[in-house]
Formats: sequence, C-alpha cells, structure tokens
Amino acid sequence: MNSDRYNSRLFQLANPKLTVKNKLMIKPTAQQQPMAKRMDDIQPFYVMDVLARARQMEAAGQSIVHLEIGEPDFATPQPIIDAGQLALQRQLTHYTPALGLVELRKAIADYYQSRFGVHVPWERIIVTPGASGALQLALGVLVDPGQQVLMADPGYPCNRHFVRLFEGSSLSVPVNSDTGYQLTAKHISQYWNEHTIAAMLASPSNPTGTLVSKQEMRAISEQVTQRQGRLLVDEIYQGLVYDADEYTTLELTDQAFVINSFSKYFGMTGWRLGWLVVPDGYVDAVDKLAQNIFLAAPTLSQHAALAAFSTETQAILQQRRDEFRIRRDYLLPALRNLGFDIPLTPQGAFYIYANCSRFTDDSYVFVQNILRDAGVAITPGIDFGAHSAKHHVRFAYTRSVDVLEQAVQRLSVFLKNA
Ligand SMILES: Cc1ncc(COP(=O)(O)O)c(C=O)c1O
Repeated sequence: MNSDRYNSRLFQLANPKLTVKNKLMIKPTAQQQPMAKRMDDIQPFYVMDVLARARQMEAAGQSIVHLEIGEPDFATPQPIIDAGQLALQRQLTHYTPALGLVELRKAIADYYQSRFGVHVPWERIIVTPGASGALQLALGVLVDPGQQVLMADPGYPCNRHFVRLFEGSSLSVPVNSDTGYQLTAKHISQYWNEHTIAAMLASPSNPTGTLVSKQEMRAISEQVTQRQGRLLVDEIYQGLVYDADEYTTLELTDQAFVINSFSKYFGMTGWRLGWLVVPDGYVDAVDKLAQNIFLAAPTLSQHAALAAFSTETQAILQQRRDEFRIRRDYLLPALRNLGFDIPLTPQGAFYIYANCSRFTDDSYVFVQNILRDAGVAITPGIDFGAHSAKHHVRFAYTRSVDVLEQAVQRLSVFLKNA
C-alpha cells in the first residue's frame, strides 16, 4: 500500500463512522462518473458541511456563533481597498507577468529587510494566487510520482492533497503537545527514508496556533540539507504572533521554499494573493509552471497589495493583531474552565486546538451536536488529519470578545446538559 493510501486508510480507521456520516452531511457527488483515482484520496473540508448546516439554521432564524472558518472578521484595511479601487479606475485589468508585478516583488523584499533585517533578492520572490497557489507551485516543481513529503498530523489538510495531486505521497507524522504539535529535527531523522524528498512545516500552525522555535527550525533545516532534501515552510500566519519573537526561515537559510500570503495578517482572503520565495535555480521552473497553471495572480489584487506595507496599513494591522491577542487571552482560559484540555498556549494564528475527549469519543458528532443544540459552529479534528482527530476540535477566535462570551455561555449550558 503506498503511503497516501495508507494514510487514507488510517484516516478511515480513525473515523469509522465517517463514511456513514458523509452520506448524511455531504451532497452525493458524481461517484458513478469516470474520475481520476487520486480523487479517492482527496478529502473535502468537513468544516464546509458545518458551515452549510449553520447557514441553513440561520436562514431558519436561529442565531449561530461562527468560530469555524479560518478567516479574520476584519475587512481589508482601507488603504489597500483604496489602492485596489484606484487600479480599477486606471483600468489596470490586464495580465501581469507570471512571476508577478516587479514593484510588488520588490515591496515584499523590502518588507523582509525592514521587518526581519534579512536580504532576500526580489528576483526569488514570486507572487501567487494565495498561499494555495504558492504551495502548488512549490510542490509542482519538486515532487515526482512516488516521492514522499514529510508533514505533521495534525496539519493543514490541503498539503497532503497537493502532494497527491502531483502523484507523490505524504508521510504524516503524528505529533503531540510535547513537540508543540510540530515536526522536530528528531522527527526528520527518524522518518526520512529513501523516498523522502522534502519536509513541510507551518509556523504558526493551522490548526494548533503553535510555533517552531528559531533554534529548532535551524536544526530541522540542517537535517533536511544533510539529506539533500528540500524544506518548505508555510509562514502564512506571520505577523499574527502574540508573545514570542518572530523570525522568518529566510534568516536561517536561503535554501528553503517559504510560502506566505496576503490572506490572514493582511486581511485579504478574497483577493487571492500570496507569495513564494524559492532558492536560487528554481525561478525559471516556477515561472514556467505558473504560466501554465494560472498565467498570473490577479492584477487588481497585486496593485492593491502595494499599499499593504505602508506605515498606515501596518498600524491598522498591528492594532488588529493586538485585538486577536485579547481574544485569545479571553477564550483560552474560558475553554479550559469548561473542561477542554488545552495543554499549550497557542502563540500565533487565531486558533485554539482543544482536546474534547472528556466529552466525546467522536469530535465530528460532538461538533454537530454543539451546532444543533448550542448554535456554535466549530471545526472537527478530522479536518486536519487522522492522529487523535476524534478527540480534538478547533476554535477560530475570529469574532469579537462579546461574541466569544456568547459562545462560551452557550457551550457552558450545552456541556452541563450533555
Ligand atoms: C496553513 C495554511 N496554509 C495555506 C492556506 C491557504 O491560504 P490562502 O490560499 O488563502 O493564502 C491556509 C488557509 O487557511 C492555511 O491555514
């Protein structure tokens, strides 16, 4: 059994009721139609079903607190919107180069210099349709059929699906709170095998909000380099770090693929814009692939993003980061008081990954019951992998403190009656 099939099988074993439940929750797909085999291994986002159900309930007049989707509630900062509108007025509606607007690539390089004191040649920065586009480009130029990529379980689910899309396989390493739910240098030496070509990490992580320390990232990078492998680091939640010093992996090595985005810290999810930093020698390959896959990132979004690094925008974004910290500092102790086991304080992103085994052996059923009876929407652990997934749920603190208070109040009543 190849490791994707193995992972997929593990997933099914970890979630035996899922197949039955899928029939209840997910609209039947055209299963009978001829389709690529890989589609068997690509899972949907279960949180989308939670969201769809929540919307139905809202349409029927019920009040729902949304803590399920990983999207800031803030609108895009006004200076970015203004720049986007100006670009539209100026009719800047044609394709840009596949690698992105040079002006924006230079602005990103300046950002690395001013924020982290690291010189990243702008030529190695590629503007992409979201971090999603960056992940596809990076994996597309690296992965051959049968090759393997190491990643943490729990982790961002699309990563293993992207690897599968390129006919590679993911080796999901079960991680726990003892390593901050992150891969470590030790994992790299323990799990790397003759098929492995790369290791992928995200810091801060989705769904755990935990970081990889600079020291550990350096050790990971060394381990990967020793094996002539590639390191991919998703820094999409950069900027949303609350009580630790921030760094970028680019300070440690110029050999990593670093993924980033305007979606989260910059509040631009719907603009579909991100970037990828590649080591020397990869730009032409990425250019070729980007031309073929999507031609270029959205032009208006690129012009709008030129305003993302201004002093005015940064002041807005830092205020928002402080607001996220206030939300975390409210929700974390409140959830612990309710009986969720959260061994670590998440230091970044806007997620709390909570162990719910005190209340249930099936987090998916638990999430559905909470939605039905308490009107609070959260994400089941099964969206992030198979390891201990039935015992975890994710809370996204993407709502104001008064809304979070409502959620906690509702959960408190629900758990008392459960
Ligand atoms: C870890 C991680 N990487 C990548 C993405 C994709 O982000 P986008 O394509 O919006 O930039 C997400 C979205 O939630 C994420 O959590």
